[in-house]
Amino acid sequence: MTDSRMRIVAVANQKGGVGKTTVTMQLGATLSRRFRVLVVDVDPQQSTVWWAENVPDGLPFDFAGSQSPKALAGMRELEAEYDFVLVDTPGSLEDTPILETVLDAADFAVLPLTPEPLAVDPTMRTITRLIEPRGLRHGVLLNRIDPRVPKQLETWQGLLDTTFGVPRFGNHVRQYKVLTDAPVLGQLVTSTPDTRRTQGSILDITRVGYELSDQLSPAHAGRW
Ligand SMILES: Nc1ncnc2c1ncn2[C@@H]1O[C@H](COP(=O)(O)OP(=O)(O)OP(=O)(O)O)[C@@H](O)[C@H]1O
Ligand SMILES: [Mg+2]
Repeated sequence: MTDSRMRIVAVANQKGGVGKTTVTMQLGATLSRRFRVLVVDVDPQQSTVWWAENVPDGLPFDFAGSQSPKALAGMRELEAEYDFVLVDTPGSLEDTPILETVLDAADFAVLPLTPEPLAVDPTMRTITRLIEPRGLRHGVLLNRIDPRVPKQLETWQGLLDTTFGVPRFGNHVRQYKVLTDAPVLGQLVTSTPDTRRTQGSILDITRVGYELSDQLSPAHAGRW
């Protein structure tokens, strides 16, 4: 990154179970190879805290765990210390006020989306009601793509591009058992041995990390 500005990235979707916590932790790990990263959790479920407790040899990023969403406004004071602050947010409608406070403070929102029809409406509602009114830059990230399902990726990319007209990541994350097991084993792509079984998940997360940091660098500003 050529300027020193810190980016606050909210990982958000009012649909539960689409991969917000997974994306927050794994992106935090891959970005930590190149940037100074802080991961924050404002979800009352505290899934990242549970995950962090399972990590055997320490996290590769700074971890603030449970924070009140209001504390995020004060995060700007950390400008000199971090390049990225990634915020895991709650997926339930009752927690909308928490999400709104985070989005007020954020520079960008990543919206993980699993290829399930029932996930579409809550995702679109999150975008049209909470993200667009704030003029917040955002990108939908297709997650849990199953390459064995014919045309699944193309179909969902087409839906996002044409039917819904929402910005999306060019890269996506496939469905991997190693990613399902990661919270229990406290595993992150940066500490996962690179084997035939794990290489796909490491590759997918790494690509998304590069895409995010490219998009948020000044040279690309506004492309999404
Ligand atoms: N790409 C993937 N491949 C395999 N499993 C995945 C993948 N992404 C997420 N999962 C699994 O899907 C489940 C839901 O993911 P996760 O907890 O990250 O979603 P969430 O959006 O944070 O959920 P919540 O709304 O409850 O906070 C978890 O069991 C997680 O391990
Ligand atoms: Mg979660």
